[in-house]
Amino acid sequence: MDKIKFIDKEMEPIKTKRLVISDVDKDRAALEEAAELLRSGGLVAIPTETVYGLAANALDPEAAGAIYHAKGRPSDNPLIVHVCDVEAIRPLVREIPDCLYRLAERFWPGPLTIILPKSALVPLQTTGGLDTVALRIPAHPVARELIRLAGTPLAAPSANRSGCPSPTSAAHCMQDMEGRIHAVVDSGNCTIGLESTVMTLCSQPPRILRPGAVTIEMLREILPDVVMDPAVFGETKPGERVLSPGMKYRHYSPEARVILVRGSLAQFLNYLSLQERVDGVICFDEDTGQMPYPYLTLGSQWDANSQAYKMFDVLRMVDREKWNIVYVRVPVLSGIGTAVYNRLLRAAGFTEVLL
Ligand code: TXA
Ligand code: MG
Repeated sequence: MDKIKFIDKEMEPIKTKRLVISDVDKDRAALEEAAELLRSGGLVAIPTETVYGLAANALDPEAAGAIYHAKGRPSDNPLIVHVCDVEAIRPLVREIPDCLYRLAERFWPGPLTIILPKSALVPLQTTGGLDTVALRIPAHPVARELIRLAGTPLAAPSANRSGCPSPTSAAHCMQDMEGRIHAVVDSGNCTIGLESTVMTLCSQPPRILRPGAVTIEMLREILPDVVMDPAVFGETKPGERVLSPGMKYRHYSPEARVILVRGSLAQFLNYLSLQERVDGVICFDEDTGQMPYPYLTLGSQWDANSQAYKMFDVLRMVDREKWNIVYVRVPVLSGIGTAVYNRLLRAAGFTEVLL
């Protein structure tokens, strides 16, 4: 294979191939092609059960560096390293606490990312200059087979342009990354739809830096003292030091101004009737009968899994509708609903009206 080319400074587009992989047993040629690109240092969007990731060899500083460029990601925002089994973690870290094995047994493969002190094998380009590394074993069979075939851990942030909603389908990846990466693997929609829970074992007590499908209640069954980092629901001030660099950046945002409104449906409708301009709303199925404005729904207000599954697609649709200002009903804050709220809050730049 020729030496891999990356998109250059002048932004000359590169050809992005679409590789359909629906079945790890049948689609071997496409799997091999994606793995060969990864082995040669290329950038490939791959499916996981959470969101699509923009993958490259995590141990190759040039390939990892190219991820930041393709996404337009600040170089101090570290990447998650994906491996296919717990044994593969040993060379990547300086020490493995006992609790890692208990967490792994319960939650891996799955939507949990764990931060540990990194070994010298992991380049600083992969960790955004940090001395720690974020690790995850994804549950998606295509992701695990690609890691295995590539023969190396894969660094993979979400495969969106930095700041945009995360991609939950190959079409989302193409929208953001066509011309900037070598291939997009198409394995259909992600089943969870929002990114993994990120937890650090480098602080005492252990901290959740980003909520996800593995909830704090679930983690407390293994680590009773785990806490939620305060930055999860609060805006960080300029210059403030945060444990997870990703927390200080604007995130998940459509072009539109997003405003969260917390209150009953009656309060929500009353508040909107007082606004000068309402282009559209994001609400729940139960609300639609009474909604006088154009709307997109996240599913039932009692079904947080549906809200997680639909949220990023709905945020992308806001721009397709060309709405300039959109009001959003706040989800119920339990289970994965906490993570849905965290992403909506960031999409809204922390603008929330309490009624
Ligand atoms: O579900 C997911 O986690 C997806 C899929 C592809 O695995 N990946 C993902 O990556 O969401 P990304 O880069 O979009 O989000 C990773 C978050 C960022 O907020 C980053 O700052 C944080 O994890 N992070 C990564 N490494 C870290 C480290 N060593 N210390 C603190 N935070 C870290
Ligand atoms: Mg991301």
